[in-house]
Amino acid sequence: MEKIVILTGAGISAESGLGTFRDAGGLWEQHRIEDVATPEGFARDPALVQRFYNARRAAAAEARPNAAHEALGRLQRDYPGEVVLVTQNVDALHEAGGARDVLHMHGELASALCAACGHRWPAPMEMQVKEPCPACDRPAGRPDIVWFGEVPYHMDEIMAHLKDCTLFAAIGTSGEVYPAAGFVQIADIAGAHSVELNLEASSVHSNFAEARLGRATEVVPLWVAELLSGH
Ligand code: OAD
Repeated sequence: MEKIVILTGAGISAESGLGTFRDAGGLWEQHRIEDVATPEGFARDPALVQRFYNARRAAAAEARPNAAHEALGRLQRDYPGEVVLVTQNVDALHEAGGARDVLHMHGELASALCAACGHRWPAPMEMQVKEPCPACDRPAGRPDIVWFGEVPYHMDEIMAHLKDCTLFAAIGTSGEVYPAAGFVQIADIAGAHSVELNLEASSVHSNFAEARLGRATEVVPLWVAELLSGH
């Protein structure tokens, strides 16, 4: 059976109004990664980190899925083979666009994690500096986001899918962050065709067999239509 593995990044949500990280004016121009996206940064200044993710949670709650999210939802529903959706995004726009079983390898804004006992619960819109854990009562609640230096989620499952997929696609991701940037090579070794759909060529573009450059809302629906029509 055909199996498509799709990896998405911030570029797919850009046209829904959510800023990317590394484009001009992106989040990493306005904030230092080591301050807001590392366990050390959280230990140093939890208020700053909670404020950063509270603001992103509020922005994500306002955002609506775009034509690219909706096309992938359609592909998962209507494709006769298996479609595995892996995202580095922490918003819920794939789900809002009709996708199911989304593997959020970098966590989710909608989830809170207890740094003390590992319990997870639905994050309130505004997390407090000393957010109490509903399971162990300790004030150790943090955003359930995978920070630099931490291990991404669902890696065993993602690796198993990459090793038996027939097509691998990366959409709206710069190829700057591993392990996601290395997925194309694993799929390639497995014999899969690979395609990059991005505004511009990514850092790892030479590892892909095919490129479709353009805005996600334009190139993704076209690509999905081709797959669904069997071309
Ligand atoms: P980046 O900001 O690194 O890259 C966004 C990519 O999307 C770039 O290659 C852009 O060219 C492309 N892009 C921008 N607008 C687009 C559009 N309208 N249509 C299509 N493509 C567009 O974001 P990611 O690759 O997702 O991790 O970043 C990977 C990880 O780095 C993130 O998950 C985050 C960040 O640090 C954590 O916070 C753990």
